[in-house]
Amino acid sequence: MDRASTGTYDPSCFRLIEGPIPAAPDGKIVVQTLLMSLDPTNLNWLKLDPQLQAIPFGVGDPMIGVSIGVVTESCAPTHAVGDVVTGMWGWRRFDVVDPLFVRPAKPATEMSFEQQLAIFSHVGRAAAGGMTLIGEVKPTDAVLVAGAAGATGSLAAQIAKAQGCRVVGIAGGPDKCKFLLEELKLDGAIDYKEENLHEAVHRHFPQGVDLFFDNVGGEGVDAVLANMAIGCRIIVCGAMSQYNISETSNLYGVRNLPLLIFRRARLQGFVADFGPRNQVVDKLLDDLTERGQLVARTHVVDGFENIPDALALLLNGKNHGKLLAQV
Ligand SMILES: NC(=O)c1ccc[n+]([C@@H]2O[C@H](COP(=O)([O-])OP(=O)(O)OC[C@H]3O[C@@H](n4cnc5c(N)ncnc54)[C@H](OP(=O)(O)O)[C@@H]3O)[C@@H](O)[C@H]2O)c1
Repeated sequence: MDRASTGTYDPSCFRLIEGPIPAAPDGKIVVQTLLMSLDPTNLNWLKLDPQLQAIPFGVGDPMIGVSIGVVTESCAPTHAVGDVVTGMWGWRRFDVVDPLFVRPAKPATEMSFEQQLAIFSHVGRAAAGGMTLIGEVKPTDAVLVAGAAGATGSLAAQIAKAQGCRVVGIAGGPDKCKFLLEELKLDGAIDYKEENLHEAVHRHFPQGVDLFFDNVGGEGVDAVLANMAIGCRIIVCGAMSQYNISETSNLYGVRNLPLLIFRRARLQGFVADFGPRNQVVDKLLDDLTERGQLVARTHVVDGFENIPDALALLLNGKNHGKLLAQV
């Protein structure tokens, strides 16, 4: 914990460094970044808190993220110059990448790069795997999704709809709630900025919530815990409301956990890597996309130098869909 940085997000914590284009060592490729995914997890990594990191970061390390890029130099037999790949590498215009950690992107003529990063990425996997493998969604479920107008939540909500569930989404503001009802065709929308969450969840789920897909954390968790059906599954995908709180002591303390007992309920977190079951998740995303059952809104910011400011959009809710940066 002593490495953790404190304070709320400040874009000036980033520095833009100019340098020569790197050369590919033996077995590696150089990739020119075309489109980058900007994610709430970048905000967590910035905290340098080992408890929040799968990958340890130090001060001065380049941020990383999922991107699409084109191979500009290859010293690996698997890749040729011009190949378009997707994977995780540094927030750099050109980066040296291990070919083991990239996979081919679909041609842009088949699906735009924006849609690929919004659906066929960690985001789609989190939504599809979280809803099906972790949440074990079934058609009779009454489903609630928090952060439902966002990148992950909107896919999760649509996946539950495609299963035949009754789905209600929580989002901030009338425009986002309108999007949930009119474009995603959800059965209900709760504006958490206007409504009392406890009352609204009870009103929408008089028989209780069967499955809660949570991207937000905080008070919504208590509202659901107080309104669970027997056997409820609470799936913790993210906790947006807690990511910009500067002091650990100010994090929201969930009060209603004991209610899990008599509701025989389950609360489970996950990360969007399901090992050998990734294939099942990707197939579901493929099928739903082909059937036109997945709409993914994207919010593209232009320019590498604008990334630090763009990241703040995730915290003030001003992103409308998957946040991406065009390089
Ligand atoms: N487990 C995994 O592997 C995994 C993978 C991908 C994403 N995630 C998680 O999923 C969540 C959503 O990520 P995303 O990339 O899809 O972002 P997103 O939902 O597209 O954007 C973030 C949204 O969070 C909402 N928000 C921000 N601050 C909030 C607050 N204080 N209270 C309530 N809502 C707040 C805003 O929507 P409103 O305007 O509606 O408030 C904002 O638009 C994040 O928590 C992320 O960590 C987890």
